[in-house]
Amino acid sequence: MLEGALLTAVGLTLVFAFVILFGAPYLPTLSKQAHTALELLDLKNGQVLLELGAGDGSVALLALRRGLKVTAIELNPLLCVVIWLRTWRYRREITIKCANFWTTDWGRYDGIYVFLLDKFMKRLDKKIIQTRQTIPLASYTFTIPGKKADDNRDGVYLYRYKAK
Ligand SMILES: C[S@@+](CC[C@H](N)C(=O)[O-])C[C@H]1O[C@@H](n2cnc3c(N)ncnc32)[C@H](O)[C@@H]1O
Repeated sequence: MLEGALLTAVGLTLVFAFVILFGAPYLPTLSKQAHTALELLDLKNGQVLLELGAGDGSVALLALRRGLKVTAIELNPLLCVVIWLRTWRYRREITIKCANFWTTDWGRYDGIYVFLLDKFMKRLDKKIIQTRQTIPLASYTFTIPGKKADDNRDGVYLYRYKAK
Protein backbone atom coordinates (compact mmCIF):
# COMPACT_ATOMS: atom_id res chain seq x y z
CA MET A 1 0.00 0.00 0.00
CA LEU A 2 2.86 2.34 0.89
CA GLU A 3 4.48 1.44 -2.43
CA GLY A 4 1.29 2.35 -4.29
CA ALA A 5 1.05 5.73 -2.56
CA LEU A 6 4.71 6.40 -3.27
CA LEU A 7 4.29 5.54 -6.95
CA THR A 8 1.23 7.80 -7.18
CA ALA A 9 3.14 10.66 -5.54
CA VAL A 10 6.10 10.20 -7.89
CA GLY A 11 3.73 9.99 -10.88
CA LEU A 12 1.90 13.19 -9.95
CA THR A 13 5.20 14.99 -9.31
CA LEU A 14 6.44 13.98 -12.77
CA VAL A 15 3.17 15.11 -14.40
CA PHE A 16 3.34 18.51 -12.70
CA ALA A 17 7.05 18.90 -13.50
CA PHE A 18 6.29 18.13 -17.16
CA VAL A 19 3.45 20.64 -17.32
CA ILE A 20 5.52 23.33 -15.59
CA LEU A 21 8.49 22.74 -17.88
CA PHE A 22 6.69 22.40 -21.20
CA GLY A 23 3.24 23.97 -20.93
CA ALA A 24 1.70 27.36 -20.40
CA PRO A 25 0.35 27.76 -16.86
CA TYR A 26 -3.34 27.17 -16.42
CA LEU A 27 -5.39 30.36 -16.33
CA PRO A 28 -8.93 30.42 -17.72
CA THR A 29 -10.19 32.89 -20.31
CA LEU A 30 -12.68 35.33 -18.82
CA SER A 31 -16.29 34.74 -19.82
CA LYS A 32 -16.60 37.99 -21.80
CA GLN A 33 -13.45 37.23 -23.78
CA ALA A 34 -14.58 33.65 -24.43
CA HIS A 35 -17.82 34.99 -25.95
CA THR A 36 -15.85 37.55 -27.97
CA ALA A 37 -13.47 34.88 -29.30
CA LEU A 38 -16.35 32.74 -30.54
CA GLU A 39 -18.01 35.76 -32.13
CA LEU A 40 -14.79 36.71 -33.91
CA LEU A 41 -14.23 33.15 -35.14
CA ASP A 42 -17.81 33.15 -36.44
CA LEU A 43 -18.07 29.37 -36.83
CA LYS A 44 -21.40 27.89 -37.87
CA ASN A 45 -23.45 25.09 -36.28
CA GLY A 46 -21.64 21.77 -36.54
CA GLN A 47 -18.26 23.28 -37.42
CA VAL A 48 -15.27 22.21 -35.34
CA LEU A 49 -13.46 24.48 -32.92
CA LEU A 50 -9.94 23.31 -32.09
CA GLU A 51 -8.80 24.54 -28.68
CA LEU A 52 -5.08 24.16 -28.13
CA GLY A 53 -4.50 23.97 -24.37
CA ALA A 54 -8.13 23.68 -23.31
CA GLY A 55 -7.60 24.18 -19.56
CA ASP A 56 -10.75 23.43 -17.57
CA GLY A 57 -12.91 23.31 -20.71
CA SER A 58 -14.80 26.58 -20.14
CA VAL A 59 -14.35 27.84 -23.69
CA ALA A 60 -15.03 24.37 -25.09
CA LEU A 61 -18.26 24.16 -23.08
CA LEU A 62 -19.40 27.56 -24.32
CA ALA A 63 -18.69 26.52 -27.90
CA LEU A 64 -20.61 23.25 -27.45
CA ARG A 65 -23.59 25.14 -26.01
CA ARG A 66 -23.51 27.30 -29.15
CA GLY A 67 -23.85 24.23 -31.37
CA LEU A 68 -20.21 23.83 -32.36
CA LYS A 69 -18.19 20.65 -32.24
CA VAL A 70 -14.94 20.81 -30.32
CA THR A 71 -11.55 19.17 -30.32
CA ALA A 72 -9.90 20.02 -27.01
CA ILE A 73 -6.20 19.25 -26.61
CA GLU A 74 -4.79 19.55 -23.11
CA LEU A 75 -1.46 18.48 -21.66
CA ASN A 76 -2.41 18.36 -17.98
CA PRO A 77 -4.14 15.02 -17.21
CA LEU A 78 -6.03 16.46 -14.25
CA LEU A 79 -7.51 19.19 -16.44
CA CYS A 80 -8.38 16.54 -19.06
CA VAL A 81 -10.52 14.83 -16.43
CA VAL A 82 -12.17 18.17 -15.57
CA ILE A 83 -12.94 18.81 -19.27
CA TRP A 84 -14.30 15.27 -19.62
CA LEU A 85 -16.60 15.70 -16.61
CA ARG A 86 -17.78 19.20 -17.53
CA THR A 87 -18.59 18.33 -21.14
CA TRP A 88 -20.02 14.85 -20.50
CA ARG A 89 -23.45 15.95 -21.74
CA TYR A 90 -21.91 16.84 -25.11
CA ARG A 91 -19.67 13.75 -25.33
CA ARG A 92 -20.71 13.03 -28.92
CA GLU A 93 -19.72 16.56 -29.98
CA ILE A 94 -16.33 16.77 -28.29
CA THR A 95 -13.03 15.00 -28.82
CA ILE A 96 -10.69 15.35 -25.86
CA LYS A 97 -7.04 14.63 -26.54
CA CYS A 98 -4.94 14.49 -23.42
CA ALA A 99 -1.71 15.25 -25.23
CA ASN A 100 0.93 17.74 -26.27
CA PHE A 101 -0.55 19.78 -29.12
CA TRP A 102 2.88 20.33 -30.70
CA THR A 103 3.22 16.62 -31.38
CA THR A 104 -0.41 15.47 -31.73
CA ASP A 105 -2.50 15.27 -34.87
CA TRP A 106 -5.03 18.13 -34.69
CA GLY A 107 -7.59 16.26 -36.79
CA ARG A 108 -10.18 18.22 -38.78
CA TYR A 109 -11.11 21.69 -37.59
CA ASP A 110 -12.61 24.94 -38.85
CA GLY A 111 -11.17 27.44 -36.40
CA ILE A 112 -8.62 27.58 -33.59
CA TYR A 113 -8.74 29.15 -30.15
CA VAL A 114 -5.70 29.66 -27.91
CA PHE A 115 -4.76 31.40 -24.68
CA LEU A 116 -1.12 30.51 -24.29
CA LEU A 117 2.05 32.49 -23.68
CA ASP A 118 3.99 34.98 -25.78
CA LYS A 119 6.89 32.56 -26.19
CA PHE A 120 4.68 30.00 -28.01
CA MET A 121 3.13 32.34 -30.58
CA LYS A 122 5.88 32.28 -33.25
CA ARG A 123 6.00 28.46 -33.17
CA LEU A 124 2.20 28.34 -33.36
CA ASP A 125 2.24 30.66 -36.38
CA LYS A 126 4.73 28.39 -38.18
CA LYS A 127 2.71 25.28 -37.39
CA ILE A 128 -0.54 26.78 -38.67
CA ILE A 129 1.18 28.00 -41.87
CA GLN A 130 2.53 24.46 -42.40
CA THR A 131 -1.02 23.06 -42.38
CA ARG A 132 -1.77 25.18 -45.50
CA GLN A 133 -5.39 25.65 -44.50
CA THR A 134 -7.69 28.62 -44.71
CA ILE A 135 -8.47 28.95 -41.05
CA PRO A 136 -9.28 31.63 -38.46
CA LEU A 137 -7.25 31.77 -35.23
CA ALA A 138 -8.45 33.64 -32.15
CA SER A 139 -5.84 34.31 -29.48
CA TYR A 140 -6.57 35.87 -26.12
CA THR A 141 -3.95 38.37 -24.93
CA PHE A 142 -1.01 37.19 -27.03
CA THR A 143 -0.35 38.26 -30.61
CA ILE A 144 1.46 36.61 -33.48
CA PRO A 145 4.83 38.39 -33.81
CA GLY A 146 5.18 40.35 -37.04
CA LYS A 147 1.55 39.80 -38.11
CA LYS A 148 -1.21 42.38 -38.09
CA ALA A 149 -4.41 41.02 -36.58
CA ASP A 150 -7.45 41.06 -38.89
CA ASP A 151 -9.62 42.03 -35.93
CA ASN A 152 -9.14 42.76 -32.25
CA ARG A 153 -11.77 43.09 -29.54
CA ASP A 154 -11.64 42.85 -25.72
CA GLY A 155 -8.02 41.67 -25.89
CA VAL A 156 -8.83 38.86 -28.32
CA TYR A 157 -6.89 38.90 -31.59
CA LEU A 158 -8.23 37.34 -34.78
CA TYR A 159 -5.95 36.13 -37.58
CA ARG A 160 -7.28 34.74 -40.85
CA TYR A 161 -4.80 32.25 -42.30
CA LYS A 162 -5.10 31.65 -46.03
CA ALA A 163 -4.15 28.44 -47.81
CA LYS A 164 -1.36 29.15 -50.29
C1 LIG B 1 -3.60 29.84 -20.02
S1 LIG B 1 -4.33 28.22 -19.99
C2 LIG B 1 -5.77 28.49 -21.01
C3 LIG B 1 -6.86 27.46 -20.78
C4 LIG B 1 -8.08 27.57 -21.70
N1 LIG B 1 -7.70 27.56 -23.10
C5 LIG B 1 -8.82 28.85 -21.44
O1 LIG B 1 -8.63 29.78 -22.22
O2 LIG B 1 -9.59 28.94 -20.47
C6 LIG B 1 -3.22 27.33 -21.08
C7 LIG B 1 -3.46 25.85 -21.10
O3 LIG B 1 -2.68 25.27 -22.14
C8 LIG B 1 -2.19 24.02 -21.69
N2 LIG B 1 -1.02 23.72 -22.51
C9 LIG B 1 0.14 24.41 -22.58
N3 LIG B 1 1.00 23.87 -23.45
C10 LIG B 1 0.37 22.78 -23.95
C11 LIG B 1 0.73 21.80 -24.93
N4 LIG B 1 1.92 21.84 -25.53
N5 LIG B 1 -0.16 20.85 -25.24
C12 LIG B 1 -1.38 20.81 -24.63
N6 LIG B 1 -1.78 21.71 -23.71
C13 LIG B 1 -0.92 22.70 -23.38
C14 LIG B 1 -1.88 24.25 -20.22
O4 LIG B 1 -1.84 23.04 -19.50
C15 LIG B 1 -3.06 25.14 -19.81
O5 LIG B 1 -4.15 24.39 -19.34
